[in-house]
Amino acid sequence: MKLTVIGTGYVGLVSGACLADVGNEVLCLDVDAAKIRILEQGGIPIHEPGLLEIVRRNVEAGRLAFTTDAERAARHGEIQFIAVGTPPDEDGSADLQYVLAAARTIGRHMDGYRVIVDKSTVPVGTGDKVRAAIAGELAARGVELPFSVVSNPEFLKEGAAVDDFMRPDRVVVGADDERAIGLMRRLYAPFQRQHEKLVIMDVRSAELTKYAANAMLATRISFMNELANLAETLGADIELVRQGIGSDPRIGWHFLYAGCGYGGSCFPKDVKALIRTASEHDMALKVLSAVEAANDAQKHVLVDKIVRRFGEDLSGRRFALWGLAFKPDTDDMRDAPSRVLIEELFRRGARVTAYDPVAMREAERIFGDEPRLAYAGRPKSALEGADALVIVTEWKEFRSPDFAAIRSRLRQPVIFDGRNMYEPARMRDEGIEYFGIGRA
Ligand code: UDX
Repeated sequence: MKLTVIGTGYVGLVSGACLADVGNEVLCLDVDAAKIRILEQGGIPIHEPGLLEIVRRNVEAGRLAFTTDAERAARHGEIQFIAVGTPPDEDGSADLQYVLAAARTIGRHMDGYRVIVDKSTVPVGTGDKVRAAIAGELAARGVELPFSVVSNPEFLKEGAAVDDFMRPDRVVVGADDERAIGLMRRLYAPFQRQHEKLVIMDVRSAELTKYAANAMLATRISFMNELANLAETLGADIELVRQGIGSDPRIGWHFLYAGCGYGGSCFPKDVKALIRTASEHDMALKVLSAVEAANDAQKHVLVDKIVRRFGEDLSGRRFALWGLAFKPDTDDMRDAPSRVLIEELFRRGARVTAYDPVAMREAERIFGDEPRLAYAGRPKSALEGADALVIVTEWKEFRSPDFAAIRSRLRQPVIFDGRNMYEPARMRDEGIEYFGIGRA
């Protein structure tokens, strides 16, 4: 099939590359000429395991191409994916200007039947706005062309996005007409293994499904984080509690890890947007508002522990920081707990030497020329002469560090671990003063 993907960010590029990989002819459009240049030169503008190989393979095979030419893009694909950003407005609602601009672009240039597929996470009701935007452009051109609008939210996790696309748990398709449903079935047929993955529903339900999934996962995390804080007070161990409840199939093992808060491009933004959508309809989502407040507070727990250990005034102190990205296998620092931690340490007069396997360049971009923040080329060199080690991202390479080196390089052997990477008993044996999240 001929497909167009508008927006070459995470969602767009992964979807485009994976759809090309199963044999489709995919043209990706972006307004950002610099991004398109990187892609045309065989690079990718983001860090995502496995993606570069798929992009290169399909570009070479002639199935994947990139352009800034909107007209060419609108004419290419019978299916047009909208995968542009929906950054939060100041009030927390999703900013739809890029989605609607993409819809107008399609309407301005399309020359036959089109299925317009919303892949971006958009508030319930956006499908209608996309439909109106396209109809408006067609009316302005004075032409009548048939088109369908479909909601097909993505459930990709950064760091596992290629695999998530190739082996989806489910594919949610919100559509109102049979012609579009038929095309979507054909499109996703190569990804149906073992059992039917397509869940077909109306557009609004599909739009809400995406928010419901992320809000549910965020709720589990905030719930466990609150229990972790309680466990500390009670002298219980949240890790044991997690094992004790995860075995119940109604609860399940995933997303029960207490930590220093969730970040990333989705959870914080989507939780905010759903609260906002409800309030626009004079409804309060009490549970979700608490989830958000609990997470904002959780991003401060490491600093609270540091202050309890070293005092409120941290001037003259320096902390080694392992991990900047909001989670492993990505360089993404959007809403990352590390950012709150660094700011809070600065505010109390401390300096930070950070190490992250891939996100240091992103940190440089965010913090600019900041004299209080230094970077280390290796985890060990960050430790040299620091007052303590603080861990905020559970990168694999931190799992089994050389504890003797940690002891000898730090001024005193203290670890604040925001991801519960080590066993408290082992840390005692190693002679390390260890502060986890919710550990007895
Ligand atoms: C998420 C959803 O998982 C994905 O389905 C959706 O499409 C986009 O949003 P992503 O933002 O890539 O994906 O990250 P995810 O792996 O879900 O982690 C989100 C945050 O939650 C991270 O900061 C992570 O550290 C935190 N987290 C996750 C916990 O604190 N505890 C857990 O048990 C799991």
